[in-house]
Amino acid sequence: MQKKLVAPSLLASDFANLQRDIEMVNQSDADWFHLDIMDGVFVPNISFGMPVVQAMAKHAQKPLDVHLMIVDPDRYIKTFAKLGVHHLTVHYEACPHLHRTLQAIKSEGMKAGVALNPHTPVSLLEDIIQDIDIVIVMSVNPGFGGQSFIENTYQKVKDLKALIERKKSNALIEIDGGVNDANAKKLVDAGADILVAGSFVFKSDNPTQTIKGLKEKIA
Ligand code: DX5
Ligand code: ZN
Repeated sequence: MQKKLVAPSLLASDFANLQRDIEMVNQSDADWFHLDIMDGVFVPNISFGMPVVQAMAKHAQKPLDVHLMIVDPDRYIKTFAKLGVHHLTVHYEACPHLHRTLQAIKSEGMKAGVALNPHTPVSLLEDIIQDIDIVIVMSVNPGFGGQSFIENTYQKVKDLKALIERKKSNALIEIDGGVNDANAKKLVDAGADILVAGSFVFKSDNPTQTIKGLKEKIA
């Protein structure tokens, strides 16, 4: 069985101490860095852009998992590849030519991900699931950290897992939003492979220990 992964979201880190927080993740049991890019158009918030990702990449010693919450992401695929990004995820709702977008991401040597907003059914991936490396199931409405987990996510993960198996796809299931130690195990039992955690990690007293605890819960 695929090893279960934890990806701390730097959105909840201390931006005035980014290097310190990145080193913490480097030294921890975490598997990936989850980086949230927001444009103030696709979502009602702006996070950080390429210069910040470039600065993060200099220190990060684990794969960069970039989640684009932006319109027309095709414009920046090459840019993120040059920054050393490993996984690039676009939103289903932002891509009228999703198949082409995924091929463009892969042709730059990155893993290609598709994120689904809470209202977007997994059945819409039926004809594209074999071309996807990672599906991010949004368990909050994208745009902000620290929101509460949407309970319908469990059923969605189960449906997605069934679709992946039926279509013999290798796609991994990543959950993003409101993840904590109360829902982590249940998400993995439903079929999740990767858990993103922002506030739960960075707002805790001991982030290194929190990451360790999450990993133990889902091992
Ligand atoms: C939300 C982002 C998430 C966010 C998760 O739009 O995609 O990655 O950082 O934060 P928490 O874990 O605090 O819900
Ligand atoms: Zn995210």
